Amino acid sequence: MSPSADTKLDALRSPEGAELLAVAGELAATDPARAALALRAHTSDPELASAALTQATLRLSAAAKFGEDAHAMFFTRDGLEQATRPEVAARRAARLKAAGATRVADLCCGIGTEAVALARAGLRVVAVDADAATAALATANAEALGLADLIEVRNADALDTDLTGCDAVFADPARRDAAGRRVFDPAAYAPPLNALLARAEGVPYGVIKVGPGIPHEAVPAGAEAEWVSVDGDVVEAALWLGRTVEVPRRATVIRRGEVHELTGAGDRPAPLGETGRYLYEPDGAVLRTYLVSELADLLGARLADPTIAYLHADDLVATPFARTFEVEETMPFSVKRLRSALRERGVGRLTVKKRGVDIDPDALRRELLGKGKAKGAAEATVVVTRIEGQRTAFICSPV
Ligand SMILES: C[S@@+](CC[C@H](N)C(=O)[O-])C[C@H]1O[C@@H](n2cnc3c(N)ncnc32)[C@H](O)[C@@H]1O
Repeated sequence: MSPSADTKLDALRSPEGAELLAVAGELAATDPARAALALRAHTSDPELASAALTQATLRLSAAAKFGEDAHAMFFTRDGLEQATRPEVAARRAARLKAAGATRVADLCCGIGTEAVALARAGLRVVAVDADAATAALATANAEALGLADLIEVRNADALDTDLTGCDAVFADPARRDAAGRRVFDPAAYAPPLNALLARAEGVPYGVIKVGPGIPHEAVPAGAEAEWVSVDGDVVEAALWLGRTVEVPRRATVIRRGEVHELTGAGDRPAPLGETGRYLYEPDGAVLRTYLVSELADLLGARLADPTIAYLHADDLVATPFARTFEVEETMPFSVKRLRSALRERGVGRLTVKKRGVDIDPDALRRELLGKGKAKGAAEATVVVTRIEGQRTAFICSPV
């Protein structure tokens, strides 16, 4: 079977296929059964009609992630799901280029998202994927985006493809099992992390994308571990190797398209002290990198409990690295006391957050607002946590 036989990729890339795709694109947003029927009027090949409709539907769902590029690219459901967010790939590519890399082996290239970002950053790319149909998609995407001159796609095994001429290795191993479930153990990645680290050895520049759940013990000595969050969600982690390494740990926080970086060793405890007027909830990327004490320094803040990562301070410092709350009232945790305090404040819209205590925030929220009772218009956040063994509640408002 040719690489693209089962996706009809070659046919869709022909001029007639492009026309069919354009029609499918208009129909894809309508009722699927009607769209399939309407497409049959444009081709005598029912399988091609179905492939065009699938592709057009995938392009629609890809638009949120890939923007304009989605309308030119080719996807599979798995390829789209596993693709790096283009803004994260672009940042990584720019960093590799700035470090001095010129020709990158993109081992495990998938549909080619990272290869495209690397090429757009001005690097030459050898994009490798062991799956023939996936490699064919990477080829189609490099061509569709006008980058074929910079990207050489190989259908080969990342572990034995020839790296001659490459001064950089990027790898994004598959982190799902045969049933599509996420795998967390780096030894169970395909290919396994250790095998990829071995491939990167001796290559001047390297970076390997890993799952955000990777334990710090699995980070090789001398590597830089970076965790990345986008609009509050930790989306990935990466191990920077060789000449790319700048610091032991980096938290990259992307908010509304703006990139903020916090760096440090990630090995010191944050200062301890009293609660204060402001409570900071560190971003997930800061927590995963163990950079809470570096953030505490930035904010002039401290932990109220050595085991709970909420930071407290008397003065307000604007930061992209944490959500900030102004504390209006602090009390020992009691549903009765909280309920009456919230009623007094006329709170009708409530968010409950917790850390270090065994409560169900949704259930507590319902309990605090009460059922069917008249509710006020005010909004509040209740943070429940543990300080020196005591359950403590803060009534706050987001800053
Ligand atoms: C997480 S995806 C890559 C996604 C890609 N970086 C992107 O952003 O579009 C992992 C890919 O690794 C490929 N793969 C798994 N084992 C491989 C191996 N030994 N050699 C080459 N590719 C492999 C899979 O076929 C899959 O396409």
